[in-house]
Amino acid sequence: MIVCHCRVVTDRTVAGAVEAGARSLGAVCRSTGAGQDCGACVFSLKRLVCEHGGAPVPALSAPAHLEVDVAAS
Ligand code: FES
Repeated sequence: MIVCHCRVVTDRTVAGAVEAGARSLGAVCRSTGAGQDCGACVFSLKRLVCEHGGAPVPALSAPAHLEVDVAAS
C-alpha cells in the first residue's frame, strides 16, 4: 500500500527502513524520502514507525511562552 503518494513510498518500504535501523519518524523520512513534500502522510508514517518497533514519537509541547503557570493562576 502506498503511504506517501508524493514520493510513492509504500508501507513495506517504511517497514524495511525501520528494520534497517531508521528508528524515528525523521530517520524514516530521510531514508525513504516520504513525508518531505505535502506532509499529508506524516501521521500514517508515525503509526507505521511505532508499529514496526521504532521509537515512540515525542509528544508535541507548547512553546515556552504559551505555557501556563498553574501555581501563579
Ligand atoms: S503524501 Fe507524503 S509528502 Fe505528500
